[in-house]
Amino acid sequence: SGSADLVILANRLPVDRVRSADGTLGWRRSPGGLVSALEPIMRNNDGAWIGWPGVPDEDVEPFVDEGLSLVPVPMSAQEVEEFYEGFSNGTLWPLYHDVVAKPEFHREWWDSYVAVNERFAEKAAEIAAEGATVWVQDYQMQLVPRMLRERRPDLRIGFYLHIPFPPTELFQQLPWRRQILEGLLGADIVGFQLNGAAQNFVRLVRQRVGHKTHRDTVYLPDGRTVQARAFPISIDTRGFEELARSESVTQRAAQIREALGNPKTVLLGIDRLDYTKGIYPRLRAYSELVAEGRFSVDDAVFVQVATPSRERVEQYRVLRDDIDRLVGRINGDLGRIGQPAISYMHSSFPRHEMAALYRAADIMVVTPYRDGMNLVAKEYVACRYDNDGALVLSEFAGAAEELRQAWRVNPYDINGMKAAILEAAHADDREVTRRMKAMRKTIMEHDVAGWAAAFLGALSEVQGTHSKTL
Ligand code: G6P
Repeated sequence: SGSADLVILANRLPVDRVRSADGTLGWRRSPGGLVSALEPIMRNNDGAWIGWPGVPDEDVEPFVDEGLSLVPVPMSAQEVEEFYEGFSNGTLWPLYHDVVAKPEFHREWWDSYVAVNERFAEKAAEIAAEGATVWVQDYQMQLVPRMLRERRPDLRIGFYLHIPFPPTELFQQLPWRRQILEGLLGADIVGFQLNGAAQNFVRLVRQRVGHKTHRDTVYLPDGRTVQARAFPISIDTRGFEELARSESVTQRAAQIREALGNPKTVLLGIDRLDYTKGIYPRLRAYSELVAEGRFSVDDAVFVQVATPSRERVEQYRVLRDDIDRLVGRINGDLGRIGQPAISYMHSSFPRHEMAALYRAADIMVVTPYRDGMNLVAKEYVACRYDNDGALVLSEFAGAAEELRQAWRVNPYDINGMKAAILEAAHADDREVTRRMKAMRKTIMEHDVAGWAAAFLGALSEVQGTHSKTL
């Protein structure tokens, strides 16, 4: 066995391999909620992080990046197509997000999923110290816990699902449902964003695998137990607030408002360009408010940032075209010279620019059809240290269970969204402050360090053949 006492295993490393125009190779921070949540914790824990460098056929030696040891696992172009774009993002992603898009089931994709999960499990088995803790992340790696336990029964193994776990009726569609459940049961603790998800999982284990269960515990025939519990993920709240308070972010936020023509109201959306995020209905709701004269483009502009994501997957290309067309049509119909209705950017920005956007926005509009948590909503709240700013939030985001004082919306109900956006825009300052204060209290008390401590603490209490505690 190896020497790492704490190992994170995720599909992606926290950095992506990028080749710049002049051919030189470098690294850039990876997109998405998983990396933004885990990166700050791991940097303080000197663990090892196993993951894919984000491009095919990159076989890079392990290296240390700001105190974090990174252990790259390569994938061939065919595996990127079948494991990553295929099974992970063409089957599991839509299935686990309430079939917002239609999942496809292909046997070759599944075979590739098994093969890549084996490679990751082998790597963890190789680098983990005797009795170490291995924390497996997300839907791309659901078979790893069992594969790893078979190789290394001495390890403590945790699994955390960052995305929703589907209702049992949808999960049943998976031809490989039993293998996935058994894969997850290799962990000592299976963590979810919400209680309902943990309950779905336990029910499926009872019905489909036939194990005994009681509340959040599964009893395996060999005497081992597995706990399924909710650990809602969060952000580095204080880190974000500090960034938001900095002189340079404050100046940049003012510049942004200036560049938008100093409108009365700036509405903001920031998402990975994903069909689960409800970008389309949100822009429609806004545009109808402008078309009906309830907003004018001089007083209410919408800034939408869509971070490029999974660009080779068909459904993501279609979505990009749909959004391009919608934004073009809205601006064509409603914009004026020097004053478009929507400022749309298809690009990814560093944290500093994101914080400036959050500071510049009066109303943050987060309207996913389904979302495990949604960290953007929490980041916005973290940046509003003056207790101002309104959050419009979908009831189908995990974050809605905690951020109860947001203006709640159903993204399928355009009229309801229009009403909520208007209400948020016209709310008096006291109401806005009351809501924001309460939400800030919640995320101050529940930050990402607390999330990790709760999960790892629960994992360290697991009884068994383990030798080390963290
Ligand atoms: C979500 C998933 C992560 C994923 C991220 C970015 O947050 O839960 O597992 O890494 O999206 O997606 P990508 O496919 O680019 O890794």
